[in-house]
Amino acid sequence: MATRVEEIMQLPARQRVERLSRAGQLFHVVLAQQFSRNFIDDICMLAEMVRRIAGVRIGSDFLRNLLAHRRAMLYFTQPSTRTFLSFTSACQIVGARYNEVRDPKTSSEVKGESEEDAVRVFSQYFDVIIMRHPQEGFVEKTAHLINEMERTIPVINGGSGKDQHPTQALLDIYTLYQAFSGGALVSRAAGAEIDPFPGKKIAMVGDLKRGRTVRSLSYLLCRYPQVQIFFCSPPELAIGEDILEYLREHQVKYQVLSELDHILPDMDAVYMTRIQDEHDVAGESSKIDYSRFYITPDKLKRCKPALAIMHPLPRRLEIHVECDTDPRAKYWQQVQNGMWMRAALLAYVFNTSQRIKDYYLENYTY
Ligand code: NCD
Repeated sequence: MATRVEEIMQLPARQRVERLSRAGQLFHVVLAQQFSRNFIDDICMLAEMVRRIAGVRIGSDFLRNLLAHRRAMLYFTQPSTRTFLSFTSACQIVGARYNEVRDPKTSSEVKGESEEDAVRVFSQYFDVIIMRHPQEGFVEKTAHLINEMERTIPVINGGSGKDQHPTQALLDIYTLYQAFSGGALVSRAAGAEIDPFPGKKIAMVGDLKRGRTVRSLSYLLCRYPQVQIFFCSPPELAIGEDILEYLREHQVKYQVLSELDHILPDMDAVYMTRIQDEHDVAGESSKIDYSRFYITPDKLKRCKPALAIMHPLPRRLEIHVECDTDPRAKYWQQVQNGMWMRAALLAYVFNTSQRIKDYYLENYTY
């Protein structure tokens, strides 16, 4: 017989999303479909405020006090450099202490404890679980499991299988805001509306079938129905029909293409990704000509002067290293933005956003 949580996991996404919120605010941060336009605008503004406040000693002391009474568990059972380090850096920025388990062989799972019980244990020690997991849906399942406990704590998704990477999508959107509307970000605090992407054309490139970052970012872009998305991939690695259906539902214009070069000159942003061959069943990636989906300095000559070149990293050859010095390259900025965004998210889940906004407005002009 299915358990209650297994039954919940069978519900349509819309109903599951409702179970991830409390009192009109996100409790768990697990699925990109949870983020409203208002939430995205607010969290980008908060990340920008954190970035500016952290730049001086007195500001970083203020931030470090915010969550000094909170402790985080980082449960990362899938390889990670950036996401792991940016979450630990984010904890340090807002003063939260953290512990980590990265190798389940060092936990009681070797004694036969289920992963479900392992996360139940974490929920008794810590105030938040930040989690990366190889299996689709497991981070979300953890959130529903924790909802059943007497002591409930937020679960934040740091990447779940081929499925979702919602905090990466938030830092990607933040980077796009910076690229397209720069300083306007914090003017929102004064009541200004931000319209960052009117009519912008964004290409998503590479392994779109198995890349979770593109999937989560596509969900977010549905909050900006005026954008146009161009999905460019080898036919074998095309974006999932579930994402396209979601885009149609939200009336976002898109095209599915098996080439990149002919549309490049017309793009405002290109989001490059590596081939996700760790998901191969029988070496199928080696038979695919991925080089058609590379960016080179030569190709960049034909692109717009304000193009934003993005990549969640790690990269292989899809962006030649010579492109790194081009001012249009935004991927190192994305790395840094991940830290500010995750610090903002931690402040948000622990209801301290307002303190950051107040501090910012007292000490800075827009
Ligand atoms: C991505 C991931 O893990 O999904 N990396 C990251 O978190 N920045 C992308 C990838 O591994 O290709």
